[in-house]
Amino acid sequence: MDTTSLLARGQKKPASIKILHAISLLLPGDWLKSFVFLNCIHRPRKLLRSLLFDFYRMDHIYDVIKEFTGNYQGNFSILEFGVAEGYSFVKKLYATRYLKCENRITIHGFDSFEGMPKDSGRCDQGLHAGDSWVEGQYQSDFKALVDCCAARYENFQLHKGMFDATITEDFVDRLRHTPPILVWIDCDYYTSAKIVFERILPALPSGCVIYFDEPYFNYGSRFTGEARLIHEINAGLLGEGIELVPDLALSLASNRIYRFINLNASIGYEPMEKRFSAEDRLLRNNGSPFP
Ligand SMILES: C[S@@+](CC[C@H](N)C(=O)[O-])C[C@H]1O[C@@H](n2cnc3c(N)ncnc32)[C@H](O)[C@@H]1O
Repeated sequence: MDTTSLLARGQKKPASIKILHAISLLLPGDWLKSFVFLNCIHRPRKLLRSLLFDFYRMDHIYDVIKEFTGNYQGNFSILEFGVAEGYSFVKKLYATRYLKCENRITIHGFDSFEGMPKDSGRCDQGLHAGDSWVEGQYQSDFKALVDCCAARYENFQLHKGMFDATITEDFVDRLRHTPPILVWIDCDYYTSAKIVFERILPALPSGCVIYFDEPYFNYGSRFTGEARLIHEINAGLLGEGIELVPDLALSLASNRIYRFINLNASIGYEPMEKRFSAEDRLLRNNGSPFP
């Protein structure tokens, strides 16, 4: 908390501020005070904060796979929209191998492999000149990726083409037997991400994890990019009873991971065992704060 607001309410200075003040008294001149503050206090503090709280986009993959394979029956899918050279695609494949669940999870990757399409106006564009994605950017070699994955794995499918052509009704229907547990949105444009949600909606169970790679585009403004889509979904774009709830445990201090909620979903996960029963009791313990 900012100490000036504490002091304004007549509270005591925290010890950390007293220590900083004492150090400042020992240092002569504004230049030296500023140099020491920036390099010996501000920088290490920032580094420690980021080591502890920064989100790394591969962090949650293992947690999500363990959560669903450990708690629910059957087989599942992971869907990635925007694959390019397959940087994050192969990391997901390896995660299924490491966690010994290649037989339960199929990973589907969707991409034109021709790079970014033409944008559809302000909702896809950066606020500053030169901040927008460029048509053809991230063009990649589809065959090389198929060969690379096929040499090591069997639990994947790559769907080449524009999303509106490859996310077919038939594909979405088939997902009912292998419900998605993680949807990875890395196609950058608002318009591309919107098509994805409109198409896969019938196959998404409540609780499915949705990862957005670019919610900070244009400072996270709700007028553009993935942030716009998140805002619109929560304002009812896809219908009543549908929302994206931030998952703070998975996304740490970022706003990149959500749980999909659809009160009217016709598809769900099958728990391995029932969580609640009429026999459940809450037992009294002792008066201490110990559990
Ligand atoms: C940032 S790249 C993906 C990066 C990749 N996930 C990685 O980890 O390296 C975005 C990709 O989205 C694809 N893309 C964007 N909109 C698309 C659309 N409507 N249909 C198909 N592909 C699309 C582009 O071809 C591009 O390869």
